[in-house]
Amino acid sequence: MASPFLLLAVLALAFAQALAFDPSPLQDFCVADLKSDIFINGFVCKNPKLVMAEDFFSSGLNIAGNTKNKVGSNVTLVNVMRLPGVNTLGVSIARLDYAPYGLNPLHTHPRGTEILTVIEGTLLVGFVTSNPNNTLFLKTLRVGDVFVFPIGMIHFQFNVGEGPAVALAGFNSQNPGLIVVADAVFGSKPPIPVEVLEKSFQVGKDVIEELMAQFK
Ligand SMILES: *[C@@H]1O[C@H](CO)[C@@H](O)[C@H](O)[C@H]1NC(C)=O
Ligand SMILES: *[C@@H]1O[C@H](CO)[C@@H](O)[C@H](O)[C@H]1NC(C)=O
Repeated sequence: MASPFLLLAVLALAFAQALAFDPSPLQDFCVADLKSDIFINGFVCKNPKLVMAEDFFSSGLNIAGNTKNKVGSNVTLVNVMRLPGVNTLGVSIARLDYAPYGLNPLHTHPRGTEILTVIEGTLLVGFVTSNPNNTLFLKTLRVGDVFVFPIGMIHFQFNVGEGPAVALAGFNSQNPGLIVVADAVFGSKPPIPVEVLEKSFQVGKDVIEELMAQFK
């Protein structure tokens, strides 16, 4: 039988992981040395004596991403890979562009909460809570409106206006991560066995194969 201490330790660990945001910094900054081959949680610090203003700088978010793709949206993410100065600081930013009726498809950020504001256009946005409720919170956003997508929740943004739309999003992670539901489920490499998908989605082989064909 597990000792009460072991049980407590496991509970504490589970609780700590439920609160697992980016860890706090232990110095003023730790500019990422993206070329180091030492693997730690985050990136090794560049020698602080060699740090320059450029390390905290990135440009180009005034430029629209190309939305001529099958979903009609484009995300330009400035995370630690593009802005090494955010290493250990728990922040990143993104520009989102949407063609008319463009969609940022169902996805989740495993390591970050997202706060989004609309700069141009009208977006229908929503996220779904976890089991067992799976409640959908849905809202239409106009210029200047702000919406928050809690960490880990599956969410989307859909341009319901007739013109293009633009949004800016902040994340409380230097590397929020991205799981696009359809790509992960129907487009994994190697593929998830069809039988697993049939039972998961309670449909037949034909439906699964058609879905898989879209995300190769
Ligand atoms: C997003 O836009 C950039 C810049 O135009 C382009 O290089 C990239 O291929 C686009 N991504 C998608 C998924 O269309
Ligand atoms: C989830 O659903 C249950 C059962 O309908 C309900 O009692 C509970 O209050 C709901 N929780 C939230 C957070 O909405």
